[in-house]
Amino acid sequence: MTHHLLKGKRGLIFGALDEKSLAWKVALRAKKEGADITLTNTPVAIRMGKINELAKECDADVIPADVTSLDDIQTLFNKVTGKGNIDFILHSVGMSPNVRKGYPYTELNYEYFLKTLDISALSLHKLLQTAYRMDAINEWGSVVTLTYISAQRTMPGYGDMTEAKAMLESIVRNFGYYYGKAKRVRINSISQSPTKTTAGTGISGFDKIFEYAQRMAPLGNASADACADYCITLFSDLTRMVTMQNLFHDGGFSTTLASEEILNNLEELSFPDVGNFRNG
Ligand SMILES: NC(=O)c1ccc[n+]([C@@H]2O[C@H](COP(=O)([O-])OP(=O)(O)OC[C@H]3O[C@@H](n4cnc5c(N)ncnc54)[C@H](O)[C@@H]3O)[C@@H](O)[C@H]2O)c1
Repeated sequence: MTHHLLKGKRGLIFGALDEKSLAWKVALRAKKEGADITLTNTPVAIRMGKINELAKECDADVIPADVTSLDDIQTLFNKVTGKGNIDFILHSVGMSPNVRKGYPYTELNYEYFLKTLDISALSLHKLLQTAYRMDAINEWGSVVTLTYISAQRTMPGYGDMTEAKAMLESIVRNFGYYYGKAKRVRINSISQSPTKTTAGTGISGFDKIFEYAQRMAPLGNASADACADYCITLFSDLTRMVTMQNLFHDGGFSTTLASEEILNNLEELSFPDVGNFRNG
């Protein structure tokens, strides 16, 4: 169903790689709701992925930009604002070389760690600072980034992405303050359920994490399409007073301590007898 929630609005969407990407679903939904959108990703993702197919479907321009490069971001915003200011941005970007190369949390490569932070967190600050300096976002505009609950709760296997998400959510709060005061631009993060995308399934043990969350959450995991719906509400004028928030979109997972599905199946698992070990 279409509600024309974004009629007359212009948006910039980072991070659509293929049809599984969260950004892909958001782009399609934004178009359906009447928005005029521009897509961006790295040159290599544009070459190797399917973004040009999406662009065709959405009648959108594709502008390459590596989010770690201030020059690329500046060029991107120059091109996008050449046609006028924008009303919303989706930052749907994340990558950890440590996770990708299988370095465990206790054996991190620190150069890779800095890269993880740069791509997955600092990039939000870089694009916001560029937009702020250029006054590129219209009053009451909306910026949304995607995050994961490992920013607040420990999750084995998520590696240094956990630190990146904590930093990302902090940038949401702090830039949200300054941009809100100056231009009434709102900035929020959506903390999404595990979702079967390229970035998601790159996390070690992803299938089990997905299944666990599915059994814990009273509503089950939130799908990529549901995530897109939620993003649209945040880009729309219906949520004008929501800013600086980390919004859980996880079927209730984040506030569930245990579910019957998990508790009733514990006996299926075999636990090592750790009592003697603990007592020495
Ligand atoms: N899939 C999940 O389970 C899940 C859950 C919660 C949050 N998220 C977050 O959602 C966001 C989108 O991920 P996704 O799951 O759609 O996977 P995805 O792999 O489809 O998207 C990640 C995107 O980041 C882009 N990217 C990587 N490095 C970049 C760079 N240097 N410059 C510009 N773009 C770059 C990739 O090209 C890709 O398009 C990420 O921030 C991810 O952490 C995903």
